[in-house]
Amino acid sequence: MSEKVAVLGTGKIGEALLSGMIRSGWAPSDLLVTARRAERAEELRARYGVEAVSNAEAAKIADTLILTVKPQDMAALLDELAPHVPADRLVISGAAGIPTAFFESRLAARTPVVRVMTNTPALVDEAMSVISAGSHATEEHLAHAEAIFGGVGKTLRVPESQQDAATALSGSGPAYFYFLVEAMTDAGILLGLPRDKAHDLIVQAAIGAAVMLRDSGEHPVKLREAVTSPAGTTISAIRELESHGVRAALIAALEAARDRSRELASGNG
Ligand SMILES: NC(=O)c1ccc[n+]([C@@H]2O[C@H](COP(=O)([O-])OP(=O)(O)OC[C@H]3O[C@@H](n4cnc5c(N)ncnc54)[C@H](OP(=O)(O)O)[C@@H]3O)[C@@H](O)[C@H]2O)c1
Repeated sequence: MSEKVAVLGTGKIGEALLSGMIRSGWAPSDLLVTARRAERAEELRARYGVEAVSNAEAAKIADTLILTVKPQDMAALLDELAPHVPADRLVISGAAGIPTAFFESRLAARTPVVRVMTNTPALVDEAMSVISAGSHATEEHLAHAEAIFGGVGKTLRVPESQQDAATALSGSGPAYFYFLVEAMTDAGILLGLPRDKAHDLIVQAAIGAAVMLRDSGEHPVKLREAVTSPAGTTISAIRELESHGVRAALIAALEAARDRSRELASGNG
């Protein structure tokens, strides 16, 4: 019999994951979804050919449950699920900031729990999904979570103690790049370019730089030095970035994101 996976609370991230799983070869007949609203369930059924069931049914039928509701909805979902989840089911949480202990304390003793922090580029199969084991999750459970999230991008295992740092880097990471693109597009307008052209130039520079970083294996300093000629244009810009403290601002920004993730995890939302 084939393995069944259920995505519970299929919103933006749940749908990105579901569509990525189907693109990477999962049969829609092995996937189940749950939704809070009937029209959302119908939409998912029509779009992907998957079965939409109740949370309790998903808990009974599926071998692996992936919980993708908002953090504030997780306690209510677990209250609903707990009586129906056999202790040998793998429970994967995709919610930001909620420790595995939160799930373990609400589910049957020794339920394996895996925590995953992914990011929105899951929509284009370029996610970074950071994976940590709960107390009862084995190598096999981690490998299973990697196989699922590997369908929408890269995966990386970290100890759960590093999840807040990973949230600051890759969970929120795309937003920092959007912010930079927005600021650099404004600069293009100041320099006299139309907005759409400025946007295209910066986006392509970002894509080119990202692919160079990923594929060349070079350190970013080397790549930057290669475009920083003596008395040239790039060094004039770099001097301004350094004198405005951009490096220090980025370090402080990511530290603030890490601290906020810790605060949310401890329930001080
Ligand atoms: N978006 C991101 O950038 C991002 C990145 C990484 C991780 N995450 C994590 O992913 C999770 C989901 O985020 P999201 O942006 O995808 O949120 P979302 O679009 O609001 O998706 C959550 C879905 O769960 C449904 N839901 C809530 N309670 C339910 C219940 N008891 N039973 C069934 N369905 C239920 C909601 O229904 P309604 O439509 O009726 O509200 C909604 O469709 C969060 O925990 C977040 O921390 C998000």
